[in-house]
Amino acid sequence: MSQNPASPPALHGRRILLGVTGGIAAYKAADLVRRLMEAGAEVQVVMTASALHFVGATTFQALSGKSVRSSLWDEAAEAAMGHIELARWPDLILIAPATANFIAKLAHGAADDLLSTLCLATDKPIAVAPAMNRLMWANVATQDNVATLQRRGIAILGPGAGFQACGETGEGRMREPLDLRADVAALLSRGPLTGVRAVVTAGPTREPLDPVRFLTNRSSGKQGYAVAAALRDLGATVTLISGPTNLAAPAGVQRIDIETAQQMLEASLTAAAQADLFVAAAAVADYKAAEIATQKIKKKDAELSLPLARTEDVLARVRAAFPALFLVGFAAETEKLEEHARGKLARKGLDLIAANWVGEGQAFDQEDNSLTVFARDGGSQTIASASKAEVARQLAAMIAERLSRA
Ligand code: CTP
Repeated sequence: MSQNPASPPALHGRRILLGVTGGIAAYKAADLVRRLMEAGAEVQVVMTASALHFVGATTFQALSGKSVRSSLWDEAAEAAMGHIELARWPDLILIAPATANFIAKLAHGAADDLLSTLCLATDKPIAVAPAMNRLMWANVATQDNVATLQRRGIAILGPGAGFQACGETGEGRMREPLDLRADVAALLSRGPLTGVRAVVTAGPTREPLDPVRFLTNRSSGKQGYAVAAALRDLGATVTLISGPTNLAAPAGVQRIDIETAQQMLEASLTAAAQADLFVAAAAVADYKAAEIATQKIKKKDAELSLPLARTEDVLARVRAAFPALFLVGFAAETEKLEEHARGKLARKGLDLIAANWVGEGQAFDQEDNSLTVFARDGGSQTIASASKAEVARQLAAMIAERLSRA
């Protein structure tokens, strides 16, 4: 099949294992195969038993040029390519359509048919395009399962909203084949950070005072999440260590949830051991309760003073443990931006520090941000005020450029 000039180059020569599960949107998966093939991808279709009730294997076989796999017990197929080999074959596993049942199986690690077994036996990225009735999608069980998959770094593509085959209108429609193709191309893009493993910290920390109270700050996590997404878009494999926020993990990013500065430190040291790049965008509390009261602190008429103790500096500890890691910090300042930011750069042994003005309605919990980035070698660059996504995109490009020279 010739390559369509309008199709995304990231797919050329890439191997996609397309898992088709049993929903009416399975008929659209046939078009998806065509679209992926047009873009130069190699596609191996694996169908579940219920998918075979909707569309015949022959359709997919004719479109993909490969015999369709659907059973763990097909001796001839297993002899040609065993299921473990099959799990290692693709650059990406895409489940489209993914039924509520298949999402539940994936969330719970079930391996009772070929497709679920492949998903458990692979170390390749997995993307899921849900397709189901709107009430099944909205069900707390499904939403919990989807959240579990997102936390593991599985990309959730869609669903879209609109008219459904069951006659209802709402959220739960599978994304259109061309949209899914663009999603897959983005997930497989070989940007300048391909092969780079990045860790990003984001959000506030929460330091308990007693069983019902804590110290925290106004960080929304938006800038850090945007940095994680921007690094992913350049091809990095991203782990996001996040304090409590209201944000969903960007698709394809693995999120580790923490609450306290100490938990952020532990998660960071573990993740940094496997990383090439560490970006600390979190607003880590500098102080915690010297002792956490075991019972609720009762009010009295007199003033109350609570002794606070310093938390550990995550960045400084990460630098001490991993001298070769490329380290990027953030500095939030209300005065003497350059002087303070450069002081932190030197003290914490950073490669870059992204400084911004805070207070008076700037940065914290806002949609826009601007940054001045100072480098270890004395250079600096300014990123003019823009959405946090745009600022993150420019910061990620600077990081990629510096990393390539490091
Ligand atoms: N940071 C960290 N661990 C801490 C505190 C901060 O890793 N315990 C990181 C932040 O993620 C950020 C940078 O260090 O990248 C911020 O530096 P810091 O000196 O802590 O900034 P402020 O808290 O603003 O410090 P100061 O009170 O000195 O202005």
